Parts: sequence; C-alpha cells; structure tokens
Amino acid sequence: MDPYYVTTPIYYVNSTPHIGHAYTTVAADVFARHQRQRGRDTFLLTGVDEHASKVARVAEEQGLAPQEYADRIVEAWRALPARLGVAPDFFIRTSDEGHKRFVQEFLEKIRSNGRDDIYQGVYAGLYCVGCEAFKTEAELVDGKCPEHDVEPERIEERNWFFRLSAYQEQLLALYDERPDFVLPAFRANEARSFIAGGLQDFSISREGLSWGIPIPWDPAQVAYVWADALVNYLSALTYARPGEDLIPRYWPGVRHLLAKDILRFHCVYWPAMLLAAGYDVPRQLFVHGYLLLDDRKISKSRGNVVDPLELVDVYGADAVRFWCARSVSFGQDGTASVDGVKERYERELGNDLGNLLSRTTAMVARYRDGAVPQAPDAGSEVGAMLGPLGADIADRLDAFDLTGALERIWEVVRGLNRHVEATAPWQLAKDDAHAEELDRVLYDLVDGLRAVAVALAAYLPETTERILVALGQPVVLDWDEVAYGRARPASGVEPAPPLFPRVDEPTLAA
Ligand code: ME8
Ligand code: MG
Repeated sequence: MDPYYVTTPIYYVNSTPHIGHAYTTVAADVFARHQRQRGRDTFLLTGVDEHASKVARVAEEQGLAPQEYADRIVEAWRALPARLGVAPDFFIRTSDEGHKRFVQEFLEKIRSNGRDDIYQGVYAGLYCVGCEAFKTEAELVDGKCPEHDVEPERIEERNWFFRLSAYQEQLLALYDERPDFVLPAFRANEARSFIAGGLQDFSISREGLSWGIPIPWDPAQVAYVWADALVNYLSALTYARPGEDLIPRYWPGVRHLLAKDILRFHCVYWPAMLLAAGYDVPRQLFVHGYLLLDDRKISKSRGNVVDPLELVDVYGADAVRFWCARSVSFGQDGTASVDGVKERYERELGNDLGNLLSRTTAMVARYRDGAVPQAPDAGSEVGAMLGPLGADIADRLDAFDLTGALERIWEVVRGLNRHVEATAPWQLAKDDAHAEELDRVLYDLVDGLRAVAVALAAYLPETTERILVALGQPVVLDWDEVAYGRARPASGVEPAPPLFPRVDEPTLAA
C-alpha cells in the first residue's frame, strides 16, 4: 500500500482552540490511526498559522515582539492534539526556519517557471482581517463581512500577484478527470463552478508589514498569509525529520482535511500554486461541514465558544472523539449540543459498550472461573456478524466516511447486546446439559467484543486497550484481528469495572 499523508488546516495561532478545531484534528487522527492498523506507512500533520496580521497587532498592544507573543500562545495549540489523544507526526509552526526557507524557494519556483506567473500590480479593495482575505462588495452583508460581522478595511497597495487566471483550464480538466479529487461530490461541484465562473489573479504579498516571510526578490514585502500558510503541507515534509526529505515518500498520498470556510483556498488556489511551482496537485481533499451548536456556528467571532479541553476534563478524550465522529454525519453541516456528549457517554458508551464488557467479563468470571472457553468448531451468529466488518469499515474510512464506519461498528455492538439477550447465558448456566452451548456463547461474546475493540482503536484508543486487557487479550491492533475466531485462550478474567463511570453534572459555559 502506498503511504498515506493526512493533514488538518494549520489553525490561526491567535485564536482560541475550540471544538471546531478539535473536530478536524480528531477526524485526521482517526484516519491516520486506521491506516496504520492496516500496516500503511502514515504521516499526520497539524500545526499553527502564525503570520496573520492580528498576531502583530495584539503583540504590539501587549508590548511584545510578535515572535515572543506567538511562542506564548502556541502552547494552547500544542495542548489541543495532546489532550485529544492525538499524536501528530509533526506539529508545524509557520515561524519555523524550515518553513520560511521553503516558502521562499516555493515562491521563487513559481516566479521562475518561465510563464510570468508572478507579476507586480496595484491592489485596491476591501480586506477582512478576520478572513485574511480580500472581499468583493457582493460578498458583504450590510457592508460587513458576514463571517466576522465587521466592516472590511479599504486597502490600496503595490503587491506581487499570482496569475491564477492562467490556470482555469487546467483546474477544470483536473476536476473533470478526477471525480474523487474533492469530496464530498457537492463540494467538488462548488469548487468547479467557482473555477468555471472565471478566476481572478490574487496578490501573494503585503506591503509595510514586518511580521511574515520576506518575499525573496523584494524583501520590503512579506508573503500574504495564505501564500505562506498553504505551503506548510509541503514544507513540513522537508524538515520534520532533519536530514531527510519526506516529499517523495508522502506527497503523492496527501489527503487534506478542512472545513468549507477555506474551500477556495484549498481546492482552487492551492492546486494552481502547486502546478505553477512544478509539484503534483494533492491526491485528495475532503471538505467537511461546520459543527453547529444550537443552530449557530461555533466560532470565536460569534462569542459562542466551547472549549473542547473542558469536555475532555469531564468525559475523557475518547468520549469527545466519539461525539465528534458520531454527532453529525461527517461532510454535512449539522447541529450538535454539548449535552450530546453527556448523552452519548451515558447511553452509547456506558450502556451499549460499557455494560456489554461488564456483563461479558462477569459471566466469564462467574460461570467459567475467569477462563475464556475454547473457540467452537461450528460457525456462529457472531461469526457471521464479524465476517464483513473489517472490509466494510476500511472501505468507509478510505472514503472519509468517519460517521458511517463508526455506525457500522455500532451495529455490531448492538448485535452483541441482542445476542446476550437472545442466548440468555444465565439460563444456560443453570443446567450442565447446556455447558457446551454456554462455552460457545461466552467465547462468542469475548471474541466479538475483542474484534469490536480492535475496530474501535482508531476512534477510542484508550478504551480499546482497556477492553482488550479486561478480556485477557493482548493489545494487538493489526487490522486482520477484526475477524471472528482470533480470541486467545485466557484465564483470570475478572468482572471489569465500568468503562464509562457516571459523571457528575458538569458546569460548562455553553
Ligand atoms: O482558516 N466546525 O485557520 P482557522 C467545523 N489558518 N470545523 C471548524 C469549525 C467549526 N465550527 N471551526 C473551525 C484558518 N473549524 C487558516 C488555515 S490552512 C493552510 C490555513 C476547523 O483557525 C476547520 O478545519 O480559522 C476549519 O477549516 C479550520 O478549523 C479553520 O481554522
Ligand atoms: Mg477561520
């Protein structure tokens, strides 16, 4: 299998991490962990975007150098993946020397590609600092940026421009040849119609700023924050492992995850910039929706922030990861509530999964003295349930169906619960004549739960380990373990403590 490289956007370092950022980060981690379970060489990248003009403004207000200020506030962003159980292979900062050097080389490559793709011009227009983007009058609502509810600034300056307009035909051909270039399909259509509507060149530099990456041939200007930020996906590969250039290994298999707010930058500008600089366009981009809370977008600019770390403190990283994957169909916009974390924690994690483990271990302890019975010879209902599971999940996760793959696993969790009720092991235990049947039922429950735990490892890494240990099973997460009949003989199984114990009503600022 070819290597798999998955990225999150690099988040603005000057904003506060919230559940929306956690959402993309968790999704990327689930995909990365899953591919690793299948033995695939995998690289997960996340990090921060530091050269926003707001960083310099706030630093000045606080009497700090921008770099000093960034060094302080970056800590909250390093904590975000850590607290969510996400271990990126590299955490990029756009103030890294390796990134700055690469951006300069990248822009030089475009400039010297022989097609005059970078030229000097004058830009006069409206600029929203929140979006770090120029706006047309048509994009404004009551004269304000609808995203940030602020009036854009009028800017007029001499800039370097990128000849995006020259890439219209190539981009259209790309979308036509590769129907899975951008997913879901309705997002590809959105990008394609934007391209078909005509592309305008955009400025790649800003004048009079000192916080940013100097334009190598005109150091009085710095790179426009997006011309700098997008390049992170490539630059990281050049210095994440000192002395090694990971571009040949990982770039061909790159998958960008992002939300719809930055679709144009990723699905239009970025592929054109790559073509201009002589790199392959990304393998795939997946554009997910906004996670809505009480029908409003969760975002700092609306003053409606939920700190995901606060939820992690109360319910644990796995419960938050579970909720991210499950509360809204990945790719669609959807409404979620903070209460939903609690509800899913109690009903699905606590009852469906936790109780299944408690009952299974308690019955093995009680009826078989803690020894997992031998695998039965005959086929079983649980065997039939598990048969197609591994392939079904893999297919879904290859297609970024984060929610569907988890639902597929949950079908089996529910199936195992029904199996307990239908076979009533407590009845079988009353009569020695049913000893063999009871062995089979107990084996099937242990094995089914074991296979489910391995399947869940990408979503619930801590929980998976606890389930396997409670069942006396080794923590082997290879994907071929998601199959029937792999439970190892084990003894000493004891009634497991609750996987998801009751939690007192938390006080969350929602
Ligand atoms: O745009 N629902 O950074 P950013 C779902 N620095 N996802 C959300 C979300 C929500 N309510 N809110 C944020 C930038 N996100 C640039 C990116 S990349 C080269 C540069 C997630 O801090 C989602 O992934 O505004 C979205 O695309 C991203 O955070 C925007 O993060
Ligand atoms: Mg944003």
